[in-house]
Amino acid sequence: MSDATTPGAVNAQIELIDLAAQRRRIGRRMDEAILRVVDHGKYIMGPEVAELEKELAAYCGAKHVLSCANGTDALGLALMARNLKLGQAVLVPSFTFAATAEVVAWFDAVPVFVDVREDTFNMDPVSLEAGVATVKRSGLEPVGVIPVDLFGLPADYDEILAIASAHRLWVICDAAQSFGAVYKGRKVGTIGDITTTSFFPAKPLGCYGDGGAIFTDDDDIAAVMKSLRVHGQGSDKYDNVRVGMNARLDTIQAAVLREKLTIFADEITARERLAARYGALLQERVAVPRVPPGLTSVWAQYTVRLPSGCSRDAVATKLRAEGVPTAVYYHTPLHQQTAYRHYPVAGNGLPASERIAGEVLSLPMHPYLDDEVQDRIVAETVAALGS
Ligand SMILES: Cc1ncc(COP(=O)(O)O)c(C=O)c1O
Repeated sequence: MSDATTPGAVNAQIELIDLAAQRRRIGRRMDEAILRVVDHGKYIMGPEVAELEKELAAYCGAKHVLSCANGTDALGLALMARNLKLGQAVLVPSFTFAATAEVVAWFDAVPVFVDVREDTFNMDPVSLEAGVATVKRSGLEPVGVIPVDLFGLPADYDEILAIASAHRLWVICDAAQSFGAVYKGRKVGTIGDITTTSFFPAKPLGCYGDGGAIFTDDDDIAAVMKSLRVHGQGSDKYDNVRVGMNARLDTIQAAVLREKLTIFADEITARERLAARYGALLQERVAVPRVPPGLTSVWAQYTVRLPSGCSRDAVATKLRAEGVPTAVYYHTPLHQQTAYRHYPVAGNGLPASERIAGEVLSLPMHPYLDDEVQDRIVAETVAALGS
């Protein structure tokens, strides 16, 4: 039995994301898988990489899966395959991790920031429409949209795909946080034209370093991205048919991910149960996240909104003093960040992103959180909020 489930664990140190607890479950198998790679020596594009890609495809139902070095390169490869150029505009949510907009700027293209919905933290389709109009008025060419499945919850794809199709935009789903989630019967990885994910260690499916993957049903795009991933290679390693990059996933990371994939569905179930418990126990005191009908979340984060007027710093400080770690994802929306504030925003501004950024707080969330520890986190949160 793991330490996280033994009586007395309630007094153990609480982790925001407890990777050590997962190691207690599958550490031995994991170590053996890593050692097998060390022994066979095929460190670059070894057999585990192709096996992992097959297993990820079987898991989500995508026709093509390409593993790669990280979630940022996954987005970069997708944009390269889309031939993104100077003067083109790509609509992205402002309330996200920097990588979503950063990759657009790599190509001297223009990220245009769109607001998010207050209830799901995901791209607001109404603001997306306004953003397309803003781009057209400015003389830029709108070419694509990158919705983000924030904190593990798929974005509003029915609405977003309809807007994209009306304006002839491609859709690259930034599913860095949501691999394993479901949108109306479709697994993440099969929704937009191209989907990207991250296997950063803290992600629901994370490796022991950097990693990522790209999913698509399009044979041509898959072939181009496969070439781009290895310096634009053609018929062999020293035949370069396009300018690419080095974005391969290490074989050791593929071996780690193959082991973790065997328990991933079970871990998602555990996260869902804990999220439901948090919701039931905290809904009277804070705005708890809600999952729209027909969708599932993989709960990469459990992020609540504190009541307006409540000092988030004070709450976080009190919780830290009681041994409860928290995090703020994200305290500044991208359109207000130094590196991005000169880019356009949709319509008349992004009030929801700005409000949310001041109110969010993420609580400990991982599959090995036990009920007693979660009860303690809830009790300390309620105490920190005061009466
Ligand atoms: C929404 C989003 N997009 C992209 C990335 C980039 O992934 P990586 O850190 O693997 O490059 C992240 C990583 O946290 C993310 O959260």
